[in-house]
Amino acid sequence: MSLLFTPRAVGPLTLKNRIVVAPMCQYSAVDGVPQPWHAQHVARMALSGAGLVVIEATGVEAAGRISWADVGLWNDEQEAAFARILRDICTYSDTPIGIQLGHAGRKASTNPPWIDHGGPAPADQAWETVSASALAYRDGWHVPTALDAAGMDRVVEAFAQATRRADRAGFDLVELHAAHGYLLTQFLSPLSNARTDDYGGALENRMRFPLRVAQAVRDAWPRTKALGVRFNGSDWTEGGITVEEAQVFGRALHDMGYDYLHLTSGGNVATARIPGDLPGYQVPFAEAVKAAAPEATVMAVGMIVTPGQAEDLLVAGQADLIAVARAVLDDPNWGHHAATALGRPEALPLPYERAGVERWPGYATARSASN
Ligand SMILES: Cc1cc2nc3c(=O)[nH]c(=O)nc-3n(C[C@H](O)[C@H](O)[C@H](O)COP(=O)(O)O)c2cc1C
Repeated sequence: MSLLFTPRAVGPLTLKNRIVVAPMCQYSAVDGVPQPWHAQHVARMALSGAGLVVIEATGVEAAGRISWADVGLWNDEQEAAFARILRDICTYSDTPIGIQLGHAGRKASTNPPWIDHGGPAPADQAWETVSASALAYRDGWHVPTALDAAGMDRVVEAFAQATRRADRAGFDLVELHAAHGYLLTQFLSPLSNARTDDYGGALENRMRFPLRVAQAVRDAWPRTKALGVRFNGSDWTEGGITVEEAQVFGRALHDMGYDYLHLTSGGNVATARIPGDLPGYQVPFAEAVKAAAPEATVMAVGMIVTPGQAEDLLVAGQADLIAVARAVLDDPNWGHHAATALGRPEALPLPYERAGVERWPGYATARSASN
């Protein structure tokens, strides 16, 4: 019996398996509005065999987008476009779809990665950025304005409004983006937060703004739908967020009513040395948070490439859910192939059923003959 393919409750939602498609920016929006590219991308991911799909980091206000080509959820046109995508998908897929809501803070106002390596947007496309402190992400990047009390109130309200829009658009789940060096990490990490007021210094203060946002999202999102949060277990830099701090933050979010805690790392320090080529390099963060909040549902991500690897770490109790990003872009049938690999029949969509290995006599022989 495969644990990866054992259903799992995530708050009020029951996933058919424990595979989650991680959020992946497509940098293909126009004025924050998702395009046909997003519709086909989400559809492919919904048909991948995963138990849950989480749509990419979505700006809660225009200034909160990472690049000018990111999706957003601050106006009616964006809400309607997402609603249309979800309406179409649910005619052929019962995979729940979530959306990651975020604010890029000082890492906003960039090009997409394939233009100038995703560096700061040129003057005619750039906008003013904000952060915990007026510290640029790296040399040559925009210097942000430190948020004042009114600015913080505005961002909290933008998160709440976007959360309500996500509900109206028909999303099953929201994931709050508090990771990868974006605005909420910028408050959490001593390396980007040099404030001397109630929002800087001790962990309790650095958590204050992220927890205000988290509470506003919790209050705006119905209890009948699932709510998760993604945050860093490490900045991979001396003096940055520690795993012990991530444990405290995770515990607070769990106690606030977040249905899952999704552990990732990095992105706050441009020069950090991240062992990103090691299989499961972020799994220890999930495991540590699980140890601090054993009753929480914890998701692991990062260089989880094979179904066997995913199964093993679930069996070892290191996490409850597995998120995959590049593996499912590479193989949009990753979930179906994982099912076959772990001895479960594939549940392909009916029009694709004849491509299932067990329904395709001679396939295995032909493959092994050509290898
Ligand atoms: C194309 C691409 C876009 C990404 N966009 C996001 C994003 O919008 N939000 C986020 O939290 N992480 C994003 N990530 C990070 C992934 O969600 C994931 O954490 C990372 O790729 C490690 O998982 P993997 O080894 O399975 O790819 C992105 C990754 C890729 C490859």
